[in-house]
Amino acid sequence: MDFYEIETKYSAGVYAKQQLSIVRGQGASLFDTDGNEYLDCSSGHGVANLGHAHPKVAAAIAEQASTLITLFESYPNDKRAALMQKMASLVPGLERVFFCNSGTEAVEAALKFARISTGRTNIIAAMRAFHGRTFGSLSATFNKKYRQGVEPLVPGFSHVPYNNIEALENAVTGKTAAVILEPIQGEGGVYPADANYLQAAQRICAERGALLIIDEIQSGFGRTGKMFAVQHFNVMPDLLCCAKSLAGGVPIGAVLIGEKVQNLTPGAHGSTFGGNPLSCAAALAALKAIEEEGLVEQAAEKGAYLIEKLRRIESPLVREVRGMGLMIGIELKQKVAPYLKALQEKRVIALNAGMTVLRLLPPLVISYEQIDRLVSALEDVLMDEN
Ligand SMILES: Cc1ncc(COP(=O)(O)O)c(C=O)c1O
Repeated sequence: MDFYEIETKYSAGVYAKQQLSIVRGQGASLFDTDGNEYLDCSSGHGVANLGHAHPKVAAAIAEQASTLITLFESYPNDKRAALMQKMASLVPGLERVFFCNSGTEAVEAALKFARISTGRTNIIAAMRAFHGRTFGSLSATFNKKYRQGVEPLVPGFSHVPYNNIEALENAVTGKTAAVILEPIQGEGGVYPADANYLQAAQRICAERGALLIIDEIQSGFGRTGKMFAVQHFNVMPDLLCCAKSLAGGVPIGAVLIGEKVQNLTPGAHGSTFGGNPLSCAAALAALKAIEEEGLVEQAAEKGAYLIEKLRRIESPLVREVRGMGLMIGIELKQKVAPYLKALQEKRVIALNAGMTVLRLLPPLVISYEQIDRLVSALEDVLMDEN
């Protein structure tokens, strides 16, 4: 049996398995068992911003693995303390941090912190939003596909149209604990926020005593051409959720916490693995590499280059190309699945975002030569009449 057959036989069944067996990665490339190279424009759903097998992250993990892997957060540690200091410097005003192990856990923590801090229950999220798949974050997620069959969800959640200030004005009340928004919706179809919408969300929350939670799980750490996407909009959240690429591929989640968030006392929340020295060492190395290699600036430049090339593809299939930095969506007039398959046959791995959007989240270390290869594969696939 090959890996595909084994996994199809033994896995829970909740993933649609691709007929590929990937065993190695290097930079923006993945390699299968036969040594065939694939250009990875998915970054493992937005995790591998630094590319695969980054040598400095790999060295930090190896060193920490033989020093100390696990330590509960009650016991202070050199790597965790250094990462806390580093994270506190990323967004002035968000100077405390809670560590966990994934995106959905970061959202769960932020939702709990908002309820604890405000003493209120209601949470307002946006239509098309994706915030995760555990019960709290799933209650903030919009798409029925993720919710069907597992309801009832957590009470107190409602959804308003994205980028609609009036709807938000009408929705936020004295019972609202928090508004949660992605600065650019990822899974929902790659829709950037309007600057005035996010700024209004901050104002409305401040005026009515609600907290603003910004979900940067997909858009964080340089992906959009700023360290965090909110920095394009001059918006200051009260809680900022991040995960995915923070530790260069090692599982981690984090919530950055602003001054208005109060009453977080011992026992209010916690996580066995949260803040473990292994993921903290990996995150320290990843953040250092992002800075040393200028990956935030690179994402802005490469993203502008790629978007311009994509907009020049004159395919009748394309409705719109949109995005920020290296978080890009190509909205098609048809279902995207056959085009993703055709791209894979050309050894390019990309993602969907909903039924009709082809999503590109390449590693920020992708080379210009690789970007040109991607564009040429997309041209072939999107211009092919068949
Ligand atoms: C914006 C956003 N929030 C939350 C999540 C959930 O993250 P995780 O899959 O690590 O739980 C994702 C994952 O794609 C995401 O894109």
